[in-house]
Amino acid sequence: MSNEAVKSKLSPTYHYKDLEKQAQKKLTHEVFTYIQSGSGNEETLRANEEAFKKYKLVPEFLHDVSKCDLSISVLGQTFQTPFLLAPVGHLGAAHPEGELAVARAAKGYQVPYVASTVSTYTLEEIADALGDTPRWFQLYWSKDSELTVSFVQRAEKAGYSAIVITIDTPALGFREANLTNQFFPVREGYGLANYFQDPIFRSRLNESPEENWDAAIDELVKITFHPKLTWNDLAFLRKHTNLPIILKGVLHPKDSIRAIEYMVDGVIVSNHGGRQLDGAVASLDALPKVVEAVNGKIPVLFDSGIRRGPDVVKVISLGADAVLIGRPYVYGLAHNGQDGVEELFNHLLTDIDTTLATAGKSSIRTCQLPGFVNIR
Ligand code: FNR
Repeated sequence: MSNEAVKSKLSPTYHYKDLEKQAQKKLTHEVFTYIQSGSGNEETLRANEEAFKKYKLVPEFLHDVSKCDLSISVLGQTFQTPFLLAPVGHLGAAHPEGELAVARAAKGYQVPYVASTVSTYTLEEIADALGDTPRWFQLYWSKDSELTVSFVQRAEKAGYSAIVITIDTPALGFREANLTNQFFPVREGYGLANYFQDPIFRSRLNESPEENWDAAIDELVKITFHPKLTWNDLAFLRKHTNLPIILKGVLHPKDSIRAIEYMVDGVIVSNHGGRQLDGAVASLDALPKVVEAVNGKIPVLFDSGIRRGPDVVKVISLGADAVLIGRPYVYGLAHNGQDGVEELFNHLLTDIDTTLATAGKSSIRTCQLPGFVNIR
């Protein structure tokens, strides 16, 4: 879609906080809090957004910016947008059409989608809704290794072109708000589909999920996370897939160096949107050291705290190859289903396009030239 077409579809007002409020109006207190909150005292959640204020762009003018190219390349694939959709589980809680509505919106704009293990719809259903849209599968590496292999092989068969292993979740973060509300999406029935439809998972149960729902959920909760997982286990997955493997949740430069040593194909600098280790470094503050350590050997992607066009441009300027957005598209979904996600895309694309033009850049790929971004 051309940028002019995108602009012509802009709705009159948009601000991230407005969108958050619109979503809040549509959701129960428990569900909104589940999406919006972070872990613990939410220090990291706040730090993620604050960090963006430290970095300033230094424009250069009198270049032809009549057309701005927003496309990027990662792992040999060209994406039309510099952002991908971060894996967000349990989207059926935000809207009945959940991941399918997001996937349909993504298809129209060719926004790459990273499907979560704990999606409300199966990875195959999401793939169908995406059509030819680029897609990756996010893996919560299960304690049940045969189930892990089954997920990866199903993803490969359904046209996912990379496996994103989330490494920052050996246990679930201490999310006090959800504990207070006693809201656990899996118990509410969101995020079960990939498990309940999986032949390996089903073979582990004495009775099918249809016969004994509670027992199936208990089994799922028992095996979803794998606190004993180590670097050496990566070789196991390598044996079972030819797809590129990307690690999500890298913050320490040493982990990015280990990733290269263990033949990983890419890393995502992320603190899970402030939902895991509270007190963790803001993602943006972690990025420059990871970029330096990786030194161009593998792609570096980024998420946590991106709300607007200049945020995307700052991250790319600091050396990331691409970014992922999380809560903004979930709020779009909650606000107005597929249309709400499309509206979010319109705004974000227009904002990025305008940011580039007003910075004197005709392509997002030229943002990494020295001197464009400064720390205050
Ligand atoms: C997430 N995130 C996440 N990550 C992941 O690897 N698998 C998952 O299933 C989920 N689920 C999930 C649910 C909800 C409600 C949120 C808000 C986030 C983390 C997500 O991929 C991403 O790292 C953050 O959302 C990025 O931060 P922002 O952009 O939301 O601030």
